[in-house]
Amino acid sequence: MYLSKEEEKILDGEFGHGYAKMMRILLKIGDIYGADKLIPITSAQISGVSYNTIGEHGLHFLKSLGGVQVKVPTTLNPLAFDERYLDELKVDEHLYARQMEIIKRYVDMGIKPTATCTPYYYDNIPHFGEHIAWAESSAVIYANSIIGARTNREGAITALASALIGKTPNYGLHLEENRRATHIIEVNFEPKGEDYPIIGLIVGEKVNGIPYLRFFGDNDDLKLMGAAMAASGSIAMYHVEGITPEFRNALGDDVERIVIEKEEVDSRKISIDVELVAIGCPHASLKELIRIAEFVRGKRKQKDVELWIFTAKSTAERGKEYVKIIEEFGGKVMVDTCVVVSNAGKIFKRIGTTSGKAAFYLSKKKFGGATVEIADIYTLLRSVIE
Ligand code: F3S
Repeated sequence: MYLSKEEEKILDGEFGHGYAKMMRILLKIGDIYGADKLIPITSAQISGVSYNTIGEHGLHFLKSLGGVQVKVPTTLNPLAFDERYLDELKVDEHLYARQMEIIKRYVDMGIKPTATCTPYYYDNIPHFGEHIAWAESSAVIYANSIIGARTNREGAITALASALIGKTPNYGLHLEENRRATHIIEVNFEPKGEDYPIIGLIVGEKVNGIPYLRFFGDNDDLKLMGAAMAASGSIAMYHVEGITPEFRNALGDDVERIVIEKEEVDSRKISIDVELVAIGCPHASLKELIRIAEFVRGKRKQKDVELWIFTAKSTAERGKEYVKIIEEFGGKVMVDTCVVVSNAGKIFKRIGTTSGKAAFYLSKKKFGGATVEIADIYTLLRSVIE
């Protein structure tokens, strides 16, 4: 991969060992994927923030970088807790101290301590055609598909390297020719509610490429579908006919066709009693907060079922009045964390969620091995109301 004189100086350590290390990572990735050069980015988003996921090794790596600074606006993924709910999330002193140390390291690098997987709502907003380096898979697929920004599915370290250098290797989804559909997905019924994340899980299992779908869904439906696709598979972009910004030139002649039947989707719907209803994976939008508040307003919560909503701090602030209604009902609106990277999966054994992604991870032993039911937001809310 070609490096400019300035980039070679960084590689040679003229600006310090931390930047040299980061440049070596970008060079290696660029060489592996056949990138011709580094291209400037306008934003970065870092995963690998919760101590529950990166542990001691991750913290050690951050400490090893020395006094480096990011070159572009950069935000963080959710961490292990919302500071207001340490008891509920069973956060011990060790976890608390280590998590705060991680956040301090990132803040010292000039990173905004906004901890959300939906930075595209208010905190870190990319625009159509911009090159960015994002790591959270649900945010990557949203940025590529719904916004039309360009990012590969970065890892925690490559996103950080790009943030610190201000550039990313030019390959994959940064190139126009790699953004076309590889599969056309025919959904032969009209999806609603919980169908979207289930379709996402199925597409993620069947497609290794870029799916093109024909159906209607609003941005929240597509957000849930995309996050599920990115969790059950390695998809980083999709097109929806008539909706996403690059669908017009997306279809070539040699796309593979996959049909999803209603029976296949319905067979994944199970019914269980849940102890926790968790909404907000990816983090809830303001519209979702409003929907929830309006549904539970003036009603009473069942004592033995918890309602936890996860959202960005910036979204909760904009929707304060709705947060208040949900909290008066007995729900908890948590910020800066999420149902997967906190201890929630280890506390509850039966969880209901709108999220295919949460279902995918929470049912794994590492995240608690809970039994998880995917249902639409209203079915879940009904199960919490007396
Ligand atoms: Fe976001 Fe956590 Fe889900 S990072 S996409 S809420 S697993």
